[in-house]
Amino acid sequence: MLLISWALVIDLKVAKARTGAAVLQKKVRYLAEGVDSVGGVSVPAQLVAPKGHSLHAVVRAEGHQHYVFNGTAWVLQNAVAELYADYPEESLRVGRHFFLSEPDAQGGQPTWELTSSATPLTSAVTGKSLASLTVDSNSIAWVLLKATSHSGNITEGTLGRVSYIQRLQTQHGLPPSTKGRRTGHAHHTKYLCIYAFYIQDPV
Ligand SMILES: *[C@@H]1O[C@H](CO)[C@@H](O)[C@H](O)[C@H]1NC(C)=O
Ligand SMILES: *[C@@H]1O[C@H](CO)[C@@H](O)[C@H](O)[C@H]1NC(C)=O
Repeated sequence: MLLISWALVIDLKVAKARTGAAVLQKKVRYLAEGVDSVGGVSVPAQLVAPKGHSLHAVVRAEGHQHYVFNGTAWVLQNAVAELYADYPEESLRVGRHFFLSEPDAQGGQPTWELTSSATPLTSAVTGKSLASLTVDSNSIAWVLLKATSHSGNITEGTLGRVSYIQRLQTQHGLPPSTKGRRTGHAHHTKYLCIYAFYIQDPV
């Protein structure tokens, strides 16, 4: 089953105007690939999206987890990452991940934004963690998040109807194992992962 929404087509037209048909086809392929599998990753039962929601898109992320030492522990403040779609020949930057400066009305803060290159037009989703699982003790947990709000100027775009998000296949990103030098000491840790986006099935 391949779902290409109206706004996604707009998104792709914008991409075509700027970068040509080759990239357009690749973008379609990247979204199409996402529909049936999360790139061969098996998702732990605790983190599976609820019934009635299907995989819509998958991106790869490279970024940093930002921690601040509060006197006793390192506390996550923020995360910032670039989002990529990968192909055998190249990697295409498709958006970014960041935290809203204040949580939204439902307590969501981590946000993913996809941008079509030319205009730019964006679609974004913010979410709140529902469950997490440490899969690799040297890396940040895998997480299931529920969407809490949407933003951007193509609200029907790729992320405009996202209902659940998963952070999977994490590498690195943990805070230092030693205490901070002082309260307020900040530390940025590089991390890699994939993010998977789900939308509700048509009824
Ligand atoms: C620091 O963060 C830890 C973990 O979140 C928390 O348990 C502790 O109360 C915090 N300490 C201070 C001084 O805020
Ligand atoms: C869409 O929003 C982005 C910022 O999120 C802005 O840079 C861009 O100009 C907007 N595009 C249009 C067509 O409104």
